[in-house]
Amino acid sequence: MDTVVSGIRSTGNLHLGNYFGAVINFLKMQRENNCYFFIADYHALTTHPKPEDLQGNIKQVLAEYLACGIDPEIATVFIQSDVPEVTELYLLLNMNAYVGELERTTSFKEKIRKQPDNINAGLLTYPVLMAADIIIHKAHKVPVGKDQEQHLEMTRRFARRFNMMYGVEYFPEPDAYNFGEKLLKIPGLDGTGKMGKSEGNGIFLADTPNEIRKKVMRAVTDTGPTSPGQEPSEPVQNLFTIMKVVSDPSTVNYFTDKHASCEIRYGDMKKQLAEDIIKVTDPIRERIHEILADRKYLVKVVSAGAERARASASKTIREVREIIGYRPF
Ligand code: TRP
Repeated sequence: MDTVVSGIRSTGNLHLGNYFGAVINFLKMQRENNCYFFIADYHALTTHPKPEDLQGNIKQVLAEYLACGIDPEIATVFIQSDVPEVTELYLLLNMNAYVGELERTTSFKEKIRKQPDNINAGLLTYPVLMAADIIIHKAHKVPVGKDQEQHLEMTRRFARRFNMMYGVEYFPEPDAYNFGEKLLKIPGLDGTGKMGKSEGNGIFLADTPNEIRKKVMRAVTDTGPTSPGQEPSEPVQNLFTIMKVVSDPSTVNYFTDKHASCEIRYGDMKKQLAEDIIKVTDPIRERIHEILADRKYLVKVVSAGAERARASASKTIREVREIIGYRPF
């Protein structure tokens, strides 16, 4: 069985794009692999969350993943900071990660642009910590989006470099697992681009039905098709894309035909779309609240997860120390 590792940052709530783009695939993977899914709460520190917010964010994200169907009985679900072994591997890997290559990382360059007032060393070495997360469990596959592929490239490089440096075949080089054609990109409601956590164009799994209705009714469209068979404009196509994911094919066909014959009323389409989204999100939202209210269950999940993750991580650390040359006196 392959080992799969994936980390989820504890910033922002899960939205429809995360759900159909990533989480649904996690649900499939957990049945076929030895999966480690964790909340990346060390990584979250790069943006300096307030102490009073950190725990709540972690809990929320955890509850959302569990509500979606991540099953802690079959996958190892844990909080990154419950497994301090990862920080030791991070330190060790930092010794052969070069500042030049870290500075050239796209995500780092982006951060310099976006948060020039907080370019901390944690941001620079973000890919090293991520590599430690992954190789500490000797992962083979890492399900990540396109934006993380460079980080994974670096993970492979760090693993290879360690093996070369010590003349061992110790760490496997993990592959990005992006589900190829099956990877769904869910667009936002603002006309262009994909749904994002911070773009203000998203529908969150925790949104109430009324919030969802309001958001969908406000979605950007156009003034309507003017000639039969005309291609929908990008904002309208985006609504069709979401509809294809949440609605019945007959519903999609109905509105596609209406568009083609220039009879479409976007208001009707949006009403239908909102209801179909709610059908998907409502059971998840209810489950999120149930889980958040069940402190005992959450404690049980994270402690069992931490125990399993630490067993795997501490074995790696023991072996890595030995390889590096730390020996008992
Ligand atoms: N960097 C990832 C993101 O921003 C989160 C992450 C941290 C991760 N460690 C990981 C993903 C290990 C996969 C494997 O989404």
